Amino acid sequence: MIQKAAMMRKFMIAGNWKLHGSHAMIRQWLADFMALDTSIDALDVALCVPYVYLPMLSTNASKNILIGAQDVSAHDTGAHTGEVSAAMLQEVGARLVLIGHSERRQDHAESDELVRAKFKQALAQGLMPVVCVGESQQQRENNETFAVIERQLNAIIDLLNAANADQCILAYEPIWAIGTGLTASAEQAQEVHQFIRSQLAHKDVTMARQIRLLYGGSCKGSNAYELFSMPDVDGGLIGGASLKAEDFMAICHQANKLLDKTQSD
Ligand code: 13P
Repeated sequence: MIQKAAMMRKFMIAGNWKLHGSHAMIRQWLADFMALDTSIDALDVALCVPYVYLPMLSTNASKNILIGAQDVSAHDTGAHTGEVSAAMLQEVGARLVLIGHSERRQDHAESDELVRAKFKQALAQGLMPVVCVGESQQQRENNETFAVIERQLNAIIDLLNAANADQCILAYEPIWAIGTGLTASAEQAQEVHQFIRSQLAHKDVTMARQIRLLYGGSCKGSNAYELFSMPDVDGGLIGGASLKAEDFMAICHQANKLLDKTQSD
């Protein structure tokens, strides 16, 4: 923790609502969140929601919640039916965007090349890209975890540098831990996060120190403290537990506890 504090990486807790939400749910979520008394001032808190809810959330959420999308087009304009550009996202209040989530890689056959193109669009438009990487159960069993992560990282690594590192986020989401209740242990998460940071450090040590690495996969209030206490885990990307304000806040609360501990160390 002392290490993390020395590097000045602020914890980020980002919710990914996936294909969930409605106007009624958003009203309830925001009211519940406001009523909870945990402060989020020392954290970066974000919610990545379906495109259509971006305007409502960016108008109604308090200013210390960053609003994000779950995908972005690889194109800036033109004949691409159904696509939404980075500029459009920004116009409706998005500050960040998930790129290459495993559900998009799997359900929409998104390649590393496509992830790279989307990453470039986000950066060009000043949106904070949150690039997701992670291995399947099968790949882990075949001892391919590091090779898979390295390949996914290599798609964007040359675009990262010390000047943009604080505006880029990477999220390690082992596919076998997403929505399954099977969380990676804190040690498993740290092992991969450390690997990612060491890969980045081959390119640029300053960039590697600055960039935030989030863990995602069945993260909840009961395991967040242990995961976030790992030296290379800088927060979480939260699916199921972001759908209820109380559950999400419980995770923010654990991150705050770690900050308190750091300050008293
Ligand atoms: P769960 O927290 O539901 O496992 O989802 C993780 C995830 O995919 C966040 O992007």
